[in-house]
Amino acid sequence: MISVSNVSMRYGAKVLFEEVSTTFTPGRRYGLTGPNGAGKSTFMKILTGELEPQKGTVVRPRKLGVLRQDQFAFDSHRVIDTVIMGNQPLWAALEERDRIYANPEMTDQDGMRLGELEGTIGEEDGYTAESDAAVLLDGLDIPEPLHERKMGELQGGQKVRVLLAQALFGKPQALLLDEPTNYLDLDSIHWLQDFLTSYDGTLIAISHDRHFLNSVTTHTADIDYQTIITYAGGYDEMVLAKTQIRARLESEIAQREKKIAQLNEFIARFAAGTRSSQVTSRRKEVERLQTNELARSNIQRPYIRFDQTRPSGKHVLEFKHVTRYYGELEVIDGFSANVLRGEKICLMGRNGAGKTTLLKCLLTNYPGLAEKDFALDSGTVFWGHEAQIGYFPQDVGSTIEPGLSVADWLHQWKPDAHMEDIRGILGQMLFSGEEGAKLTQALSGGEQARLTFCKLILTKPNILILDEPTNHLDLEAINALNIALQRYEGTVLLVTHDHDLIDEVATRLWIFHDDAIQDFSGPYEEWKGKHS
Ligand SMILES: Nc1ncnc2c1ncn2[C@@H]1O[C@H](COP(=O)(O)OP(=O)(O)OP(=O)(O)O)[C@@H](O)[C@H]1O
Ligand SMILES: [Mg+2]
Repeated sequence: MISVSNVSMRYGAKVLFEEVSTTFTPGRRYGLTGPNGAGKSTFMKILTGELEPQKGTVVRPRKLGVLRQDQFAFDSHRVIDTVIMGNQPLWAALEERDRIYANPEMTDQDGMRLGELEGTIGEEDGYTAESDAAVLLDGLDIPEPLHERKMGELQGGQKVRVLLAQALFGKPQALLLDEPTNYLDLDSIHWLQDFLTSYDGTLIAISHDRHFLNSVTTHTADIDYQTIITYAGGYDEMVLAKTQIRARLESEIAQREKKIAQLNEFIARFAAGTRSSQVTSRRKEVERLQTNELARSNIQRPYIRFDQTRPSGKHVLEFKHVTRYYGELEVIDGFSANVLRGEKICLMGRNGAGKTTLLKCLLTNYPGLAEKDFALDSGTVFWGHEAQIGYFPQDVGSTIEPGLSVADWLHQWKPDAHMEDIRGILGQMLFSGEEGAKLTQALSGGEQARLTFCKLILTKPNILILDEPTNHLDLEAINALNIALQRYEGTVLLVTHDHDLIDEVATRLWIFHDDAIQDFSGPYEEWKGKHS
């Protein structure tokens, strides 16, 4: 069991939690919900002990398995090591032992320390760590040859599996997952759902994915009004319960307002008269009734609209025989296409099929955007007249350098823009007032994505290349993006696993199969009709 008592947390003027007390019971599977920036990741860090709350206490089991929201954090480590790091005391002991052995002049003290370390390693099953980790990885469908690779070489869906293995390593009594379905394709999400429903410890999963939450969770802990309320049932049941509670509150308020009006009328009529004590007591009552106002709803909608400074030429992009290998593996096999102005192309297909790779191949020929250390192996790419690309990369967090205010970060992309315009754009993307002064390293996952949209709104490109832009976004923001992309008059290349978005935005599809890319001119509806 995990139990939280009287926890409070705030950043500057922003209160995230006020006196929160709640418990998480074994055998139940909790969804932790709330809009972008509500404090879900922060709360999870408080649960794991990574963050100390400003007030209150947390009691937790000895072993917790954790999947963090930043799934790129282990890119420089080997896959197998990443899994073993899931057992922190063991990993620390192994590293220290290696350091001592690497030192040619070992002292007596070093020798004693080695003895202690071997003790820890034994207790934590360190001698079978590599094979235990390999068994977990195999179970999660990460084949042997990948175990020695660096995390950075894996694609998104595989990374999540490795990070799950890390969370499960050492048999934790509770599993805490921050947005585990980001970067996963539909098949992998279904696999994860089955996997989690058979987990028998305490599960807490943060997600914006309604379908996922409904199928996995038995309870929903919702962050709202700076507190956490736990409802029985999945996401939809929570929304229903909340709506009913809200309707009741609203009718109570309507009654209260009627009462206030009556009291005020009495006060107005007799204020000058002889009944002054009754007037005073009624005034007090009005005050009491008024302080009990309905808390503001936590749901806010960003407003996204992409304009172009000027349109591109009619022929936006032409590429021939684009080919790309990773080692022996051919990921893109001689794909050719022409793209015309105004086309909205969705790239769809399984994890690892090569969608991000193709985008990077196309970008290698565009000045200023080429990814470091990236080149196509053969083929040609031409961008047309006046092509101006706005790029939303998959790992959007790494493109926002730390140490700047949100407003300064945005301003650098168009230094001659007026501060009012910068503030206007920030405001429409929900960074109003003091939020614009927030430092870039403090941003939540959804806030990083929203800030990147601010950049695209400000710089007004005529081509948008978006690689899984809806990961980390809450429902309101996904909706705003959907509408903005439909209205955009430029050209769009979009990778997404979100079927609503594909349905409503795409005019053309590039469907990645195992051996080839299918180029289909027409919306998703039509493609489904032909392939079902
Ligand atoms: N060190 C910090 N200093 C100031 N503000 C912070 C800091 N860390 C987090 N915040 C702010 O606290 C709020 C909650 O952040 P958190 O990452 O917990 O949100 P979240 O609910 O996980 O959002 P998302 O759905 O986008 O991942 C955000 O507005 C964030 O900017
Ligand atoms: Mg978060």
